[in-house]
Amino acid sequence: MHSFGQRANAIATFSLTILAVICSLASFTDNFNAPSPKAEVKVSNFNWLQKQRNGNDEASLTLNISADLQSLFTWNTKQVFVFLAAEYETPKNALNQISLWDKIISSKDLAKFSIRISNKYRFIDQPQGSNLRGRDYNLTLHWHVMPKTGKMFADKMSMTGFRLPEVYR
Ligand SMILES: *[C@@H]1O[C@H](CO)[C@@H](O)[C@H](O)[C@H]1NC(C)=O
Ligand SMILES: *[C@@H]1O[C@H](CO)[C@@H](O)[C@H](O)[C@H]1NC(C)=O
Repeated sequence: MHSFGQRANAIATFSLTILAVICSLASFTDNFNAPSPKAEVKVSNFNWLQKQRNGNDEASLTLNISADLQSLFTWNTKQVFVFLAAEYETPKNALNQISLWDKIISSKDLAKFSIRISNKYRFIDQPQGSNLRGRDYNLTLHWHVMPKTGKMFADKMSMTGFRLPEVYR
């Protein structure tokens, strides 16, 4: 016959084992879940390209942003930070990155969206740049996944083939 103490101890050990199995399964499924985010960004209207008084070029765009980032959400996802950047190369810099729009997505339900907006942050060539005329650029959607526990991870998707007009207008 087992004493009450031995039995309680056995139950506790058994519970801990189950808990350990559940935890490792959970983190395994999180790693196993390969996200397959989808995104599409279009310039629905090119508004203008101007030279500011201080000499820097500034552009204004209206963007159609559609994305399905629901697969980034798992039981362990706290929130996802997304931002859209215009990326281009100039003689001085291999990568110029200008953030045009961003959003914090706090739930899976909100991770699928389609919006039409003008750039939220100014598209200015800086510092002291007059490099935007005729410039080829990419629109890259970046996402940073902030987990409840564990490491943050980031990825991105580039849409290519955009070009600014040759003249101010
Ligand atoms: C952008 O979205 C609007 C309305 O949602 C649509 O009418 C328009 O055709 C879209 N433009 C492009 C370039 O996809
Ligand atoms: C734009 O995207 C293409 C394809 O991913 C890449 O080869 C190119 O270097 C990118 N350009 C810039 C300026 O980041």
